[in-house]
Amino acid sequence: FQHTALAGKRVVITAGPTREALDPVRYISNHSSGKMGYALARAAVEAGARTTLVSGPVHLATPDHVERVDVISAREMLAACQDLAGDCDIFIACAAVADYRPATVQEQKIKKGDERSTLELVRNPDIVATIAGGQPRPFTVGFAAETQDVESYARGKLERKHLDMIVANDVSAEGVGFASDENEVCVIWRDNAQRLERAGKLTLARQIMQLIATRLDAARMD
Ligand code: PMT
Repeated sequence: FQHTALAGKRVVITAGPTREALDPVRYISNHSSGKMGYALARAAVEAGARTTLVSGPVHLATPDHVERVDVISAREMLAACQDLAGDCDIFIACAAVADYRPATVQEQKIKKGDERSTLELVRNPDIVATIAGGQPRPFTVGFAAETQDVESYARGKLERKHLDMIVANDVSAEGVGFASDENEVCVIWRDNAQRLERAGKLTLARQIMQLIATRLDAARMD
């Protein structure tokens, strides 16, 4: 692991879940703990980068030397990322962003009523695709949380969202993915892929940062 691999680089990492409010006391969310994103932030600092976490609500301490911007919803996360994108060399989207939010947020607590109830949802903006489509454009890395056909779905997201690299994990496997201390991933870029063995999230984060540094150098040579 090279401690100067990202010296002087500006890295922005999204982490954790988003929460999409239904009313003043309820929300839609997911099981992301933020552990993977926070491990990436720690590894980025170790590699010499100036590092900012854009974090959904998690119960983790901010790693040393990391600047942290707290957000709740997907739209707040997008706004925070857009503010930072202008001064960013590497953008890593590790957050589990809610794809949909309730169409309306009730001002008062929703009352219990009929036996059945339906909820209308609307699409949230895609944060990593927005950053990858912007100008200036940082080297953009996504994650893919899949439960089947992991590599082919991840490759689809790499293309569709115009990413430079995507880190795919099988979130249906026991002991890895959401909220666990370990993960097992496949790092995919346009012309290649590399499997990283099951390990603690910090170990994997260091390997992922090293791969990003190598690809960034290669991209600069093109
Ligand atoms: O937080 P942990 O408990 O440690 O768990 C880690 C993790 C499983 C959350 C992480 O490793 C992971 O897979 N993160 C991505 C989760 C996800 O939402 O994946 P996705 O396949 O739905 O989204 C694909 C990519 O688009 C991701 O980079 C995601 O951040 C991004 N996205 C998705 C939707 C959206 N509206 N905006 C986005 O930027």
